[in-house]
Amino acid sequence: MNRLKNDCYLRALLKQPIDYTPIWIMRQAGRYLPEYRTTRSISGSFLSLCKSPELSSEITLQPLRRFPLDAAILFSDILTIPDAMGLGLYFKSGEGPKFSNPISCIADIKKIGVPDPEHELQYVMNAIRQTCKELKNALPLIGFSGSPWTLATYMVEGGTSKKFTKIKKMMYREPIATHLLLNKLANSIIEYLNAQIKAGVHSVIIFDTWGGILTTNDYESFSLAYMKKIINNLIHENNGTRIPITLFTKNSGIWLEKIAETGCDSIALDWTIPISDAKYRVGRKVALQGNMDPSILYAKPERIREEVETILKNFGYTNSGGHVFNLGHGIHSDVEPESVRIFIETVHKISPKYHRST
Ligand code: CP3
Repeated sequence: MNRLKNDCYLRALLKQPIDYTPIWIMRQAGRYLPEYRTTRSISGSFLSLCKSPELSSEITLQPLRRFPLDAAILFSDILTIPDAMGLGLYFKSGEGPKFSNPISCIADIKKIGVPDPEHELQYVMNAIRQTCKELKNALPLIGFSGSPWTLATYMVEGGTSKKFTKIKKMMYREPIATHLLLNKLANSIIEYLNAQIKAGVHSVIIFDTWGGILTTNDYESFSLAYMKKIINNLIHENNGTRIPITLFTKNSGIWLEKIAETGCDSIALDWTIPISDAKYRVGRKVALQGNMDPSILYAKPERIREEVETILKNFGYTNSGGHVFNLGHGIHSDVEPESVRIFIETVHKISPKYHRST
């Protein structure tokens, strides 16, 4: 692999010395950008953007043309796997994702197979190859997947949920069937992420958006155990370069020690835990990512700057990386792009003093 011009993000994750704290933003390509809204309206739908390697690559690059971000993230979605399993993904405006053939019984689970990433999901691999070509080694490209548990919630609920009644009923009444589903998903995710790594991504993230709705015991057996299995089966190096793995479980502040034991390189935090507490609890075992409340971007510039300084100060001085700045969840679609610029520039401007060794 050719050397990247800016590898600050990868160095931070691998706890190597850096000059400043790198930043990328969850959902950095998306509806808050007018150029995204234009491309989306021309293409007709969000899914047609994901399924076109040219458009996916174009949208991945849009925020990088505006802002000095330190990483690109593949423009796609976590629900590509269930779609490739035949569940029929579609998006209803204002209601989020939906499946026309959700999973409702063990017979449905037995029917689904493990998608071939270079066949049913080849459009994702082509988007990665196209994006790598366009990036010309300027920045690392992040690949991603949903966690087995989070994908299962969408597949069983048939879309976004508030109470998670169906998946919890299945989990408590049919635990063996639920484990069969989670195992098929874990095997699919292993194949999918390994194919993304072979196609050129420099780092991967597993998004476990809904792990935080579980009890501690159920989190360990229905979510964390499968993320651990995935980590154990991922390619950890490509052409001699290490591929750092990040886990994000929203609302997982109480489980950080357990997450750090999975073998991941980094934990992405939501905004509910002070990053100083998280750092104290995981020590130098893993890097941390986060963790500004996305709603701070509605504030005036002084308040945004103040929050950035607080988080940097809470993480503290480091002469060996370990912190990637980010929001604690996706950016809201009605944030002003100008506030995003102030946010990124502030991280770059004030973080060097937390890295200088002299
Ligand atoms: O970060 C990035 O810029 C990469 C792109 C990305 C998207 N989805 C694009 C997207 C990533 C990393 C995701 C992951 C994803 N998708 C997650 C995990 C992270 C999280 O947010 O917790 C989840 C749970 C999904 C499922 C999903 N996809 C939902 C719930 C929605 C609706 C969201 C909304 O605000 O309406 C989507 C659609 C989606 N995925 C959009 C984008 C830009 C909005 C599509 C549009 O209307 O144009």
